[in-house]
Amino acid sequence: MSKRYIVEMHDIIKRFGSVVALRGVDFYVQENEVVGLVGDNGAGKSTLVKILFGIYAPDEGEIIIKGKKFRKLNPKLAYELGIILVHQERILCGNHPIWRNVFMGRELTNKLGFLKINEMKKITYECLSQLGLTRMQVETPVKYLSGGYMQGVQISRALTFEADLVVLDEPTIALSLVETQRVLEYVNKLRNKGKSSIFVSHNIYHVYPVADRFVILDRGRVVAEFYKKDLTPEDLAEIMISIARTGSVPEKYQKLNLKLTYGKGSFS
Ligand SMILES: Nc1ncnc2c1ncn2[C@@H]1O[C@H](COP(=O)(O)OP(=O)(O)OP(=O)(O)O)[C@@H](O)[C@H]1O
Ligand SMILES: [Mg+2]
Repeated sequence: MSKRYIVEMHDIIKRFGSVVALRGVDFYVQENEVVGLVGDNGAGKSTLVKILFGIYAPDEGEIIIKGKKFRKLNPKLAYELGIILVHQERILCGNHPIWRNVFMGRELTNKLGFLKINEMKKITYECLSQLGLTRMQVETPVKYLSGGYMQGVQISRALTFEADLVVLDEPTIALSLVETQRVLEYVNKLRNKGKSSIFVSHNIYHVYPVADRFVILDRGRVVAEFYKKDLTPEDLAEIMISIARTGSVPEKYQKLNLKLTYGKGSFS
C-alpha cells in the first residue's frame, strides 16, 4: 500500500558564501509518517527544514508539496500548504496569553473585523485538551510556561491550523526528562491524528521512540536512511558514530539502507 507524499525535495543545494550547507539532498515525508532527521552539528538539518518552511531559498533543486512543484517557498505559503515549523525560541510572544499565541497571525474576526475572542479561547482549550494539557489556562501569558509547555502551545497552533506536516527543530534540546517525554507524546498524538512530522534532533534517544524512519545527514549529504523497524537504538548509535568517524555506514547495515534502494530523485 503506497502512501501519499506530503513533501518531496529533490537535489537541494544551498550555499552560504563559500560554505555549502546542502550538497544535493533528496528528502521526502509521507502521509502519517514521523521522520527523524538526525546528524552532527552543522550537518545541514536546520537549513533543510528552513528551506521547507521558506525561510531560505535553495540555490538549486525543487520542492514538491502535495504534488505541486515549487522552486522556493515563503513562510506564508508554507503555512497555507499546511506546514508548520515549531521552534523553541521562535513564534511565541511572551506577554500574550496562550490563546493569542495559538491564533497569532490568523485571528478569527467577525464581519466587522472584531476579534472573536471567546471562540478563539474555546478552540485553544479544545486543542490543548487534545494534547492532554487540560490544566493549562488559556489566559496564561506564555512567558510563564516551561519549555515543554511552550512546545505544546506551538503544537496546538499546528492542530488549530490543521497542519499536515509539523516540523520540530531540536524540540527537546533544552528540556528536562519529563518535558522531553511530554513533547514525544505530542508527536505521537499528531501521528494518531493522521498528521506527519519531521523531528530534528542530535539525540537519537529522543528521536528513536517517535520516528518511523530516520534520515541521516552528514556534511550536507543524506548518507543513510533506515526504517525504525530495522534498527535498535544501539544500531542507530553505532551507525551515527561510524558516519561521524568515517563518513560511511558500517557494511553490515548497508543492505537496510533505504538510500541505496532508490535512485537519485526517483523515490516517488
Ligand atoms: N545563515 C547562515 N549563514 C552562514 N552559514 C550558515 C547559515 N546557516 C547555516 N550555516 C552553515 O551551514 C551549515 C549547516 O548548518 P545547519 O544549521 O543547517 O546545521 P545543523 O545540522 O542544523 O546543525 P546543529 O545540529 O548544530 O543545529 C553549517 O556549516 C553552518 O555554519
Ligand atoms: Mg540545527
